Amino acid sequence: MKKDMITNVTEYEAIAKEKLPKMVYDFYASGAEDQWTLKENRNAFSRILFQPRILIDVSKIDLTTTVMGFKISMPIMIAPTAMQKMAHPEGELATARAASAAGTIMTLSSTATSSVEEVASTGPGIRFFQLYVLKDRNVVAQVVRRAEKAGFKAITLTVDSPILGRREADIKNRFTLPPNLVLKNFEGLDLGKLNKVCDYIATFHYWYEILKSDEFFHYWSSYCYNCCYFLFEITFQTSDSFAASYAAELYDRSLNWKDIKWIQTITSLPILLKGVLTPEDTMIAIQAGAAGIIVSNHGARQLDYVPATIMALEEVVKATQGRIPVFLDGGIRRGTDVFKALALGAAGVFIGRPVVFSLAADGEAGVRKVLQMLRDEFELTMALSGCRSLKEITRDHVLTEWDRP
Ligand code: FNR
Repeated sequence: MKKDMITNVTEYEAIAKEKLPKMVYDFYASGAEDQWTLKENRNAFSRILFQPRILIDVSKIDLTTTVMGFKISMPIMIAPTAMQKMAHPEGELATARAASAAGTIMTLSSTATSSVEEVASTGPGIRFFQLYVLKDRNVVAQVVRRAEKAGFKAITLTVDSPILGRREADIKNRFTLPPNLVLKNFEGLDLGKLNKVCDYIATFHYWYEILKSDEFFHYWSSYCYNCCYFLFEITFQTSDSFAASYAAELYDRSLNWKDIKWIQTITSLPILLKGVLTPEDTMIAIQAGAAGIIVSNHGARQLDYVPATIMALEEVVKATQGRIPVFLDGGIRRGTDVFKALALGAAGVFIGRPVVFSLAADGEAGVRKVLQMLRDEFELTMALSGCRSLKEITRDHVLTEWDRP
């Protein structure tokens, strides 16, 4: 498939698969364990049908909305995805420019390969900063302050990852961050022996990928690589990927509801909780001071066999009783998906993989096109459903499996 022949968001994945090293493609594409939730995130949308209204003047359609007080051009935003420079040399900077051009919000991952300052320097734009809370709270406070100073407008606190999910493709590939890249927001962080060993492994992995194609070098390069990885394994008693080892070493597994108060002491930015799936946690989140909720299962990369996010959405929305906005991510690939999420009560949606795949295929232009295609499809869905503004999208416009007796 040539990139100028692309007609929908999903088609970028095949180009990305062709272009990227297997280790990188697998890291972006895969989910946890059996990947049941990964498939379900998509499948569940096909179980929701439309009940369109007819003979309504749809010659003018307004897609604009307001998120955390900021007016944006459409309710489609960018979720945080780690290490985007593995997809394209401009990585998060290209994504930031594409989001600004589309008039929408980009969320920068705290494990990005571009810093908050670099992203800010791409020009004006509304950006949120995604936060993983590390054991070293000084580092956390520092990066949050940097994000606030760089003009980020909200903190998206990821609450579904005290430890990384088991992504078997990454384990098989012995996933490592390529040696030329660093996690820019934690650059000064003393990763101690983890950093050093990862550096060695990454360097070996890099050369291994190059040399293994040559028959003569194949034997000794794989030998060196395996020795190096063995060193890593005995140092960390792990056979996991870099991402899993990094998280296990640095993330604060003790993170709990009380810590939201602590985060509020280090920033005046609103805090969105990303990774909520139940009404029970929604109610606690409101009491704890969350300014918004993102119904997310981390793109099915954490706990497998949790429901598709679109299945969990409605109960979460009900639990808020309209007090805070609820957003959704997971499996959004069509404008019809966006409409379904809004009909079930979401104030907006975020996309993850479509961004990294289009970035890999065509850099900033790819991400721009993804946003444009989703926008066009969403507008079309609104027109064909008889809705002229987001307010006119109602629960009656969709029929779900659980509506039927
Ligand atoms: C993610 N996601 C994620 N979430 C987060 O809070 N911090 C992060 O650094 C990352 N990194 C990341 C990398 C990759 C490659 C993927 C695919 C996902 C989860 C992400 O924000 C979002 O929840 C999902 O990607 C949404 O699902 P879709 O759109 O990918 O189906």
